[in-house]
Order: sequence, then structure tokens, then C-alpha cells
Amino acid sequence: MNEPSLPFDLDPDLRRRLGHRLIDLIDEYFAHLPQRPVQLPASQRSFEPLHNPLPETAADPEAVLEQVTRELIEKGFHVPSANYFGLMNPTPAYIAVLAETLVAALNPQLATMARSQLASKIEQETLRWIGERIGWGGAFDGSFTSGGNEANFSALALALAARFPHATEEGVASIGAQPVFYASAESHHSLDKSAGLLGIGRRALRRIPVHARLEMDLQRLETAIAADISAGRIPFAVVATAGTTNSGAIDDLEGTAAVCRQRKLWFHVDGAYGGAATFSDQHRNLLRGIEQADSVTIDPHKWLAMPFAAGVIITSQPEMLSRAFGIATPYMPKSAASLPVDNFKISAQWSRRANAFKLWLTLRIHGRQAYEQHINRQLALAQDFGRWLENSAHFELAAPVRLPILNGRVRLPGGEEKIAAAHLAVVEEVTRDGRRWISETKVAGRSVIRIMIVSYLTGEKQIAELQAAMTAAAVKVLGAKAAHSQPVR
Ligand SMILES: Cc1ncc(COP(=O)(O)O)c(C=O)c1O
Repeated sequence: MNEPSLPFDLDPDLRRRLGHRLIDLIDEYFAHLPQRPVQLPASQRSFEPLHNPLPETAADPEAVLEQVTRELIEKGFHVPSANYFGLMNPTPAYIAVLAETLVAALNPQLATMARSQLASKIEQETLRWIGERIGWGGAFDGSFTSGGNEANFSALALALAARFPHATEEGVASIGAQPVFYASAESHHSLDKSAGLLGIGRRALRRIPVHARLEMDLQRLETAIAADISAGRIPFAVVATAGTTNSGAIDDLEGTAAVCRQRKLWFHVDGAYGGAATFSDQHRNLLRGIEQADSVTIDPHKWLAMPFAAGVIITSQPEMLSRAFGIATPYMPKSAASLPVDNFKISAQWSRRANAFKLWLTLRIHGRQAYEQHINRQLALAQDFGRWLENSAHFELAAPVRLPILNGRVRLPGGEEKIAAAHLAVVEEVTRDGRRWISETKVAGRSVIRIMIVSYLTGEKQIAELQAAMTAAAVKVLGAKAAHSQPVR
């Protein structure tokens, strides 16, 4: 007797037809990315909630797949577009898109080694490649995470475990004094959130002002540490940022390492974005000192062109991983003695997806030198863009170009409020038709227009078109008078 077919078990012909169709749609999407608008024009953007009732019965899979893919493409916000000069989210490498499909199909469970031996080894090999690029010769270990947020959270958990070995079990109250840590005023808000979630309180994060290059002022760092110690608080870590979110500034890693050594503090580098520069032989010196870190965050889903999710926490104090995350419960399989430690004992997660596989496969297929080219090219494009801003009649360069993030300000006499309003108006003009995307933000308290070269598909053509759009917007917003106020050098 034939068993009735199970609802999710598709007929092989249909399975193949659906797969091929989806790959064709993705291929068509990728083919248009260099010229694809980022989103619909402002007048057509609709964010109404969907009102479909919960589907109770089956529908034609080909029709549904076709319809939802087309709708997502026609109405979506296209982070992968070459015209997205946006936040730190890239065009995914196509190989990584294929890798993600394979991971979803095989669904390895990285929590334990027994159920994911090869997938776990692939993760460990990818981590080894990253640790080697950081410049660590001794022991190191870590894990892939959901992103930089979780990686920074994990780093602070490691730092706390290192300084307060009993606090993992007994809680931060057992410390008996307020633990505090330091990062620049320009550092990422994941640190505030993590401090709250770890129970030390968001105020435990001391934000140190930056100097003119937007790097943490190390003298003020030292003063703050001394003041906290005098007041009976216990400093336990310093986070240096390698590539700030707003301007791409890189803190002085060697200088921060020296402070940490002297004060016996955990040295974490938040290289969520800029840590990728370790993959460039030409530019890895931007991160001089990263090899002295106790832990590093790197997000392959930023500069390494991986689709979400792919963050990394990696530490040169690997024994702290099990101190912070080690746990046992009876239902977990007992590891064979020959297997390395189970992943759940060194990560904040239990069930864990094989997020390393896409980077491993991309490196295996394209090689490290592809990243060298990608990083070097984007840095060169950003330097050119910086010169364009400096020479513009309408804009000035507002921050040094360290990584491919540009900060521009309009050349407009008047107060900060007027300038911030002009920036919002310029951004509105540039983004209204949906073709391209830039943003406004604050750097060291001042409004700037933020432009990031983030897609590996972005080239001189897209940049020239953006510059033309910015110039037209400035003429409209500032008026012809401002256009003549500064000569083009
Ligand atoms: C410097 C920095 N650190 C951490 C993060 C958080 O990373 P994620 O968005 O992957 O959680 C970001 C995000 O932009 C960032 O810019």
C-alpha cells in the first residue's frame, strides 16, 4: 500500500522546477544590480501592513514563489544595489548565496560536535584563517555569531569572566563594586545594549571623547580610568573601534593596547566593519596593534560581502570562552573524548546555524586575493571621492578618509541648525527618486552627509552619478548664491 505523500515532501520534478525557477529569478536580479534603483520613488513607497489571512490550505507553489519574488524585487529596498551608499550592508557574493542554500538544505546543528563534525571543522578553519590574518601566532578560538552585536556582547562577557571569574555563576552583585569599561564617543551602540543585558548597567560604559581625527583621546581615557579607580569602581576593559559606524575612524590600537597592558584591562577591538582590512596586505597596517587584542569582533556580513548573518567573535584568551559560556545539562550528548569542545560551551548560542560556511566557500573559490582587490579598490575610490568633496564648490570633507566612508558638509555660512537642515534637504533630494541612497548623521556632535562605498559592484560610474545628483541637490537647496561662494580648486 502506498503511503499518502507528506505535505512538505515535494514531488521531485516540482522540486527541481521550483529550484531552477528561483535560481533564474536570482540570476536576473543579480544581472541588474549595477544599475538597479535602491527603492521605489518616495511617492510610491508603501509600508502598509499585509492583511492576508493565515493560509489554511495549499496553494500553487510556482505561482506563489513567482509572485512574492517579483513583489520583493519590485517594491523592496535593495541593499545589494550598486547605488546603495548606505550603512554597512553589502552586495552578497554570489557564491555565498549558493552556500546559504546548501546550509539551509543540510541544516547542520553546530551546537554539538557530534552532529556537525565537518561543518564545525569548516567553522574552525575559517576562524583560523581570520586569526592568522589578525596576526595571532599563539592559541585563539571563537565562533561565528549572528552579527557584531552578539560578537561585542560576547566580548564583554569574556572580559567580565576574565576579570571577575565568579560573576558568571554568582552574578555581578557578587563583585561588590561597579565594573566599568571604556570606548570612544563614536563607538557602536551595541556596547550600551550589551552592558545593560550583562547586568552591569549601560552607565558602566564610559564614552571617551574623540580628538580631531575622531579617534578615542587616550589621555582622556587614562584620566577616566584613574578617576574611576579613585572612586572605587573597577575598570575591566577598553573597546577600541576599528572603523566607526559614522565615519570609519580607527582608534589608535597600539596606544590603546599599551593602556590596557599597563592597567591590566581586557583589550577588545570592535572591527565589525574595519577588521576586514586585515585581509589586505596593502592596507592591514591601518590596524596596527590589532594583534595585541584579547578579543576582536569582525562581521563578514559587512566588508567581506557576506549575506546576513555572519559575525565573528575571536579571542586570543580561548580559555575564557568556556569560563563565560560553558554549561552542562543532562540531555546534551556526551562528547567523545576525542572530539574538541562542543560549540555550545564556547558561544552564547545553543542551536547554531553554519554561518561560517559561506565565507569559507567564498574564500575557497575566490581566494584571499579577491578580498585584497575589493578592499584596495574601495579604499582608492573613497580617496578619490574625498578629493572630490574637498574640491567641490558646495561640499567640504568633514572627516579624514580612513575607510570607504565619506563625511561631507555643505559649504554654508550659519549655525549648526541651518547646516543640519540643509543636509537633510540634500539627502531628501538625492534619495527622493529612489535611484540611490545616502544618509545624514552626526559625527562628534556635528551633522554630516554620510556616503559609504559598500557594494563591490559600485564603481566610478555610480559614484559620478551620485556626485552629479549631490551637486544638483546642493544647487537647489543652497541656491545659486552658495554655489559661487567657494571657488573650485
Ligand atoms: C562598529 C560596529 N560595531 C558593531 C556593529 C553591530 O553589528 P551588527 O549590525 O552585525 O549587529 C556595527 C553595525 O553597524 C558597527 O558599525
